[in-house]
Amino acid sequence: MNNIENIVVDTGTTAYPIYFADDFGSLAEAAEKCGYKGRKLCIITDNNVGGIYAETIKREMEKVFSEVKVCTFKAGEKSKTLDTIRDFYEFLLENKFDRKSVIAGLGGGVAGDMAGFAAASFMRGVDFIQIPTTLLAQVDSSVGGKVGVDLGSYKNVVGAFYQPKFVYINTSSLDTLPKREFSAGMAEVIKYGIIQSEDFYKYIIENKEKIKSFDKEYIRHIIRSCCEMKAVVVSKDEHDTGLREILNYGHTIGHAVEGLKGFELLHGECVAIGMAAVTDISVKRGYIGEDKLAELKELLKFFDLPVSVSGLKAENVYEQLFHDKKVSSNKLKFVIADSVGSTIRTSDVAKDEVMAAINSVIED
Ligand code: NAD
Ligand code: GLY
Repeated sequence: MNNIENIVVDTGTTAYPIYFADDFGSLAEAAEKCGYKGRKLCIITDNNVGGIYAETIKREMEKVFSEVKVCTFKAGEKSKTLDTIRDFYEFLLENKFDRKSVIAGLGGGVAGDMAGFAAASFMRGVDFIQIPTTLLAQVDSSVGGKVGVDLGSYKNVVGAFYQPKFVYINTSSLDTLPKREFSAGMAEVIKYGIIQSEDFYKYIIENKEKIKSFDKEYIRHIIRSCCEMKAVVVSKDEHDTGLREILNYGHTIGHAVEGLKGFELLHGECVAIGMAAVTDISVKRGYIGEDKLAELKELLKFFDLPVSVSGLKAENVYEQLFHDKKVSSNKLKFVIADSVGSTIRTSDVAKDEVMAAINSVIED
């Protein structure tokens, strides 16, 4: 495709493009390139995104697919369950989808993670496309093939690694995204700076007004930069056995907060709280100065993100950590910044350190 830019995620076992566009006008061409002419497509989306974009995308995809159906679920993390996946399977069977059919996830991380999990398991696996429409999904969840659902208060504990055939990012779809959701995505954007690139972190700080005011040039730059950084990590460690763990900076404590708060806070908001907490460990160890933690908290607050949480007991948060997927042989694993733009991965973190980190973000 000549008219839109792309980068390639190459995991060694598979390679696929991430397209960057300003409309949905090249979607059919992207699908045609995958050889989907004459096949059936199921677009899985939530009721918010479906109401805005499903018809446009259906019309576009009908240029290639013989039949396009839209399967809609109730928006929000509380829908990210096996019950919803069962509804998808029933929809697919009722509409006679088969092994040659294709599933597209249209929406935020919830739609993408669930559509991907349905694609990974329906008929033992059908092709899958990601069409992310939140900032969080465009910079993170649509890339890298982690798909799955929550189980009760435990985040993403049922799932698979299942790479999409392509990711199609239409930056203009962010025009309709609620402000709070945009902020939640900024938590993951800031995360990339802390874990991988001091220059990128500085770019965010220097251009924070432009980014917050949604200047497209800056938004395009941050989305592409995050995708490039994630593509490098995923290509080196597709199955999260080492390096990829850095992408979970702040997520271990963040996931615990998210589950214990009954999914009232957004995922990105919990990641912000988790990053503030885990960066406390870096400060106490002398890896980074107090001023850097203060700078991080100011940046998160600038994007209207929380850096503390009320109504939780530190001990309960600590217990919840042991249900994280990163726990191995009952030992917690942490990603800790040893400077801005660089991290270490370690299981060697004492309970006292973790409790102090949790307490640093718990409001009385
Ligand atoms: P989300 O999917 O719930 O979307 C947020 C809200 O925005 C929803 O209400 C949705 O309907 C609405 N929305 C989405 N796009 C819109 C648009 N363009 N215009 C108007 N409204 C729109 O939440 P999210 O923050 O995108 O994703 C969070 C999920 O992603 C969590 O479940 C998290 O675990 C997962 N996640 C997965 C990965 C991964 O690697 N797979 C990475 C990070 C996060
Ligand atoms: N968001 C974490 C990962 O993709 O590994």
